[in-house]
Amino acid sequence: MSGNVHIFNHPLIHHKLSIIRDKNTGTNEFRTIISEIAALMCYEATRDMPTRDIQVETPVGIANCKTLAGKKVAIVPILRAGLGMVDGMLSMLPSAKVGHIGLYRDPSTLAPVTYYCKMPPDISEREVIIVDPMLATGGSASAAVEMMKGYGCKNIKMMNILAAPEGIELMRREHPDVSIYVAAVDDHLNEHGYIVPGLGDAGDRIFGTK
Ligand code: PRP
Ligand code: URA
Repeated sequence: MSGNVHIFNHPLIHHKLSIIRDKNTGTNEFRTIISEIAALMCYEATRDMPTRDIQVETPVGIANCKTLAGKKVAIVPILRAGLGMVDGMLSMLPSAKVGHIGLYRDPSTLAPVTYYCKMPPDISEREVIIVDPMLATGGSASAAVEMMKGYGCKNIKMMNILAAPEGIELMRREHPDVSIYVAAVDDHLNEHGYIVPGLGDAGDRIFGTK
């Protein structure tokens, strides 16, 4: 399977993005909206999920319905900022399991540093959706995908709220099999590896650490 880049063009998502980009938006509202955007994006990122036909007895008769079939899902946030997207994803996929990858970007080299990893035991059999609000250089995302492939995962999607062209380019080069779902692609990275215009440091804004 070869991956694609899906860029969202939905008024609700763009409206919410305009709020979280605003430097005057506070922690509480920022966190709430990150979660809401994740839920809306989940709707689109699961469009290709297989279903099977079932019959359900309603109070009035028999309804021909569809239910989700096929592989189970794991949501995998990249800590810290990816945690902000987990509740929104679980509101759409309540029986998904959650794996955690701890990665931070070394501020001087921008290289990803791994500090934690915990996955559900059957992770190799699950469809994996990695979540992180920011795809900047792409180093963290690519390292996270590499880790999931190391667990034997075959069906991996990446979901980000904002991306830089540089990050998308790196992912296309290193992991062409992984589909990327991103709400918006911004202009470029600055000299510190921040997305411009972006929204600042997602982790700090979600957790109020700056
Ligand atoms: C941010 C963000 C991504 C990474 C993106 O995390 O949440 O994980 O940077 O940058 P990259 O594409 O250049 O790798 P950060 O390292 O700031 O850690 P935090 O979430 O703990 O704040
Ligand atoms: N990480 C962030 O949180 N923001 C950026 O703009 C780039 C990386």
